[in-house]
Amino acid sequence: MRKKIIKSAVLAVLIGFAANVSYAQKFEELAQTPPMGWNSWNTFQTNIDEPLLKGMVDTYVSSGMKDAGYTYFVLDDGWMSMDRDKDGNLVADPKKFPNGMKEFADYVHSKGLKFGIYNCAGTKTCAGYPGTRGYEYQDARLYASWGVDYLKFDWCNTDGINAKEAYTTMSMAIRAAGRPMVFSLCEWGNHQPWRWAKDVGQLWRSTGDIYVGFEKNLSKGSWTALSVLSILDKQDSIRQYAGPGHWNDPDMLEVGNGMKYNEDKAHFSLWCMLAAPLMAGNDLRKMTDQTKSILTNKDLISVDQDALGIEAFRYYSFDGIEIWVKPLSNNEVAVCFLNRSDHPQTINYNWKGHVISDPINKVNYNFNADTYKLRDLWTKKEIGTTAKNFEQTIPSDDVVVLRLTK
Ligand code: GLA
Repeated sequence: MRKKIIKSAVLAVLIGFAANVSYAQKFEELAQTPPMGWNSWNTFQTNIDEPLLKGMVDTYVSSGMKDAGYTYFVLDDGWMSMDRDKDGNLVADPKKFPNGMKEFADYVHSKGLKFGIYNCAGTKTCAGYPGTRGYEYQDARLYASWGVDYLKFDWCNTDGINAKEAYTTMSMAIRAAGRPMVFSLCEWGNHQPWRWAKDVGQLWRSTGDIYVGFEKNLSKGSWTALSVLSILDKQDSIRQYAGPGHWNDPDMLEVGNGMKYNEDKAHFSLWCMLAAPLMAGNDLRKMTDQTKSILTNKDLISVDQDALGIEAFRYYSFDGIEIWVKPLSNNEVAVCFLNRSDHPQTINYNWKGHVISDPINKVNYNFNADTYKLRDLWTKKEIGTTAKNFEQTIPSDDVVVLRLTK
């Protein structure tokens, strides 16, 4: 009898230990390639409601975004009531979501999409709605009961909080709630999440907020909104921290929100080269054919979604011309020529004159030993091989992206 009791106690401790260990883990199987989706913030900020968003869900499907690989539909800040209910639960704003959040999540799921939501590690969200501080496990359980598949977790109103601890607590709360959710850390790179968040979430913002600007940043008084190029410049040094299931996030896309065609095209290309999460942020209901042709460019998307999950590196930079290189699976490689100067420039690149090496991933491309075929991912044409120089004029703030195949 005594032996039996001791055995049970040991078993209970072991189970408890196993449970604790597993609670500390994120859902490892998620986001093996960078997550793709749509998020309400860049166009609508807090002006969201059920009819608008249901229309967006419908267009998400009918426009071809879903077929191109976009999967998540994420509500950003502004979906809640200003107060929790008497039990401390978050409540969807009844004016904006008269049928509640579970019904909206069901609608998103009924269209074959996954559902994402937003909150904040602090006491309030950035727009002043109730934050999750002190309610981590309760909020995670509520999201799980609604069928949430993705949580973006922001960093406003967090005075005195340790970032790693706060995000780890929420990650454990998600695990405890039991529903696999992609956990998207959004602390703007302030505490170098690339150094500690690999086991905490699937993606982490690497910079402050993007805005609809290609070159120059924009001062907003207390903070600075970042341009495409200034975000790009912060990625090269942290590329070694990204990979399947753990991505640097250079923020959501501004494609279709007011930049010029070539700028949108360059922005999208560079994000694909960076293996960035692709979260569209435009009004899908008003998307032009041109915008659609960018966001659904399957050649570029396949560069972004490549199974190796390697972020591009800046191989060359001189006089406004940059060459970014992204190793791909099956010994392929993507090469992006960016002209960030203010005038057109002609490049004449002698493949055979250089060996391109990625020291971090230990790959070399030696064009004397191997000849590669070239495919232009915007014109969708096969344009020769690396046996000849690649010569082309690139307009200002534009790109040429090639896929090289042996
Ligand atoms: C922060 C985030 C943005 C957005 C807003 C919402 O600024 O970085 O992406 O979520 O908050 O208030």
